[in-house]
Amino acid sequence: MDFTNPKLLVDSAALVPGKIRWRSPSNIALVKYWGKHGQQLPRNPSVSLTLTQAATDTTISYGPKVDHKRDIELEFYFAGAPRPDFAAKVEQYLRSLLPVFPFLRQLHWRVDTDNSFPHSAGIASSASAMSALALALCGLERRFFGNLRYEGEFLQKASFLSRLGSGSACRSVYPYVAIWGQHGETAGSSDLYAVPYADVAHPVFQTFHDDILIISQAEKNVSSRAGHGLMEGNVYADSRYRQANNRMDRLTAAMRTGDLDAAGKIIEAEALTLHALMMTSEPPYLLVQPNTIAAIQRVQAWRHDTGHPLYFTLDAGPNLHLLYPDTIAAEAKAFIRSELTPLCHNGHYIADRCGRGAEELGVDG
Ligand code: PMV
Repeated sequence: MDFTNPKLLVDSAALVPGKIRWRSPSNIALVKYWGKHGQQLPRNPSVSLTLTQAATDTTISYGPKVDHKRDIELEFYFAGAPRPDFAAKVEQYLRSLLPVFPFLRQLHWRVDTDNSFPHSAGIASSASAMSALALALCGLERRFFGNLRYEGEFLQKASFLSRLGSGSACRSVYPYVAIWGQHGETAGSSDLYAVPYADVAHPVFQTFHDDILIISQAEKNVSSRAGHGLMEGNVYADSRYRQANNRMDRLTAAMRTGDLDAAGKIIEAEALTLHALMMTSEPPYLLVQPNTIAAIQRVQAWRHDTGHPLYFTLDAGPNLHLLYPDTIAAEAKAFIRSELTPLCHNGHYIADRCGRGAEELGVDG
């Protein structure tokens, strides 16, 4: 499956200029994808919750091409301003999709994108950004050619194309819970795209909150791309991939029955394993900060004292994600505000929730 389709060409002389706008959220992995091969193929399966607040809005505007010598004629704006570094990545991504969407060569493109959260702060901004772009492109295919009418085929193609932009992005297109990567016990699972899992998981996971403690807003000094690369030389890599498969079996079982205690143990172990893999890379590196660890210890002590199902996880950065079901929201939020926000950069945290996922924000033209 590669979605190559030389027929997707428009009648550019007759085409009315227009725009399409999509919002796509970030997602937080519970079993982590860390290590890849080939064209963004995962070394192990992963499962994530789709978020709501941490999202990217992307508008693609199109009109007649002016400079026919350029293969991709792109203007790019991030938060209303040109960003040559992001523009170069988007242009490269669109160029890589020319066999899939040959119409990308035929028109002038303007992409406007904006995040609701700081990029490169360990919140997976590439997941929301690349999935919003892929969804908007699939929206254009549907508009120009009448294809992808069925939600399932639309989302599968969007997931596949999101993956090519940023691996974890492929999970963002589905509501609430998604699985990416070949997993023996999950029917239809694939390394090529994510599959929805919300209907299989216990509904309690749809009520989950994810309060993200902003321990630091500083840009990471080792990118995820470099981190994945370092897994190739990590002496623990093979046992890690076996462990991830085993944890997928156990976590998906706990998610089906709604066993929060069993799920929470695996979720926290995964967060610490991800950072242990960074610390055991060659060269080793460290993304957690003293306040990350202080917050982890306070979460564990509070859970021990209250018995409430509040768990932490981490992305590839210092910011702590706090996961809990809506039934304990009042108690958890009071604890977070009084005990944990003092550990945050300027007291800042993002109150996010598991959500319905990506949406089209409106069409025009
Ligand atoms: O999608 P990437 O290449 O930015 O990698 C993200 C990896 C983690 O966020 C650390 C884990 C995951 O599964 O999302």
